[in-house]
Amino acid sequence: MKIAIPKERRPHERRVAATPETVRKLIALGADIVVEKGAGTGASIPDAAFEEAGAGLAPDFASAVSGADIVFKVQRPLRSGEGEVDEVAALASGAMLVAILNPYGDRDGIAALASAGVTGYAMEFMPRITRAQSMDVLSSQSNLAGYKAVLDAAGEYGRAFPMMMTAAGTIAPARVMVMGAGVAGLQAIATARRLGAIVSATDVRMAAKEQVESLGAKFVMVEDDAAKEAETSGGYAREMSDEYKQKQAALIAETIKKQDIVITTALIPGRPAPLLITEEMVRSMKPGSVIVDLAVEQGGNCALSKPGEVVDVDGVKIVGHMNVPSRLATDASALYAKNLLNFITPLIDPETKSLKIDAEDDIIKGTLVTKDGAVVHDALKGGQ
Ligand code: NAI
Repeated sequence: MKIAIPKERRPHERRVAATPETVRKLIALGADIVVEKGAGTGASIPDAAFEEAGAGLAPDFASAVSGADIVFKVQRPLRSGEGEVDEVAALASGAMLVAILNPYGDRDGIAALASAGVTGYAMEFMPRITRAQSMDVLSSQSNLAGYKAVLDAAGEYGRAFPMMMTAAGTIAPARVMVMGAGVAGLQAIATARRLGAIVSATDVRMAAKEQVESLGAKFVMVEDDAAKEAETSGGYAREMSDEYKQKQAALIAETIKKQDIVITTALIPGRPAPLLITEEMVRSMKPGSVIVDLAVEQGGNCALSKPGEVVDVDGVKIVGHMNVPSRLATDASALYAKNLLNFITPLIDPETKSLKIDAEDDIIKGTLVTKDGAVVHDALKGGQ
């Protein structure tokens, strides 16, 4: 059984889908591993470290994936016209692809995988059940993004975070507000608190209140009947009613004026990110304030954020870095690679050292998106 680890070629991507540690463990499960040369460079893992762990090296994408039963990637493969290599065309029909496939954002990409006969598993569809926690790539990557967002804010902010009492005078602590208190938001709260800021946070899910308060931050939210229904059975947020959105906008408008730093992380699976910060709200903030919009790639939580840019609006900086987990590529790769190892381990039969997949397992049903030439996931069928 051959597992291929190609180099990532999409812009802003420095991560890799395996580390020497996971390579060793995959080999112990009976797999042969081939890593494309340079695959680990962005994550500071030299080819030699993969070789020492027992992997073979391949000079290019096609030779890395040639004959592979399983391909581990971070991002979905490039298809014809998307880059210098048509990665989808190089994948063998029947090969298993495990990656972040962006199924809602790139329906054409999913269709191309289906046409190529690839058995595609979208890791962002991992069900949020206890057994799958160690395979949850959204959690592992969002956690790092939440941390990095605060450091990015601190880098742009022309002042200090903690209160400092010095002989020359006292520096007031920074006021940080986090919008969306899920995995990224909670880590942002914890990081901002560690730096000494006064932190508040908001969310639409009631369950977030206790988590926010346990981290020593103040919870601010619209508490009406709609909030009781805001959480799906999967633990994610729903899109809220127009009435709720108006109440929330009034609350944010009132709160945001007093903030120095705002970190936004609000997402709704399969939908554009909710717009939480209007242009008017940005203009109500003090010059020198910083907004970091972690939702910028899903349309943005702030009306003025631009993907890949730091925008200055009358002295308020709005940071819209792309692919924030990739900005911590070494740790992000290590956790992502572990997620994939934890996903594949129960699928390998220790006796035969080959794949043995139970199609009825919730983890398989939840993540399998293409098989035998067709799109097979309920959420993606019928082109909705
Ligand atoms: P996410 O990345 O989809 O969204 C981020 C946050 O934005 C969420 O807390 C969401 O409620 C919030 N949000 C959405 N719309 C909003 C709006 N209009 N205004 C303000 N906030 C808004 O969610 P994430 O971070 O992936 O996690 C959601 C929940 O799932 C969390 O409670 C987390 O603890 C839980 N979880 C459970 C896991 C498990 O049981 N295996 C694993 C990971 C997370």
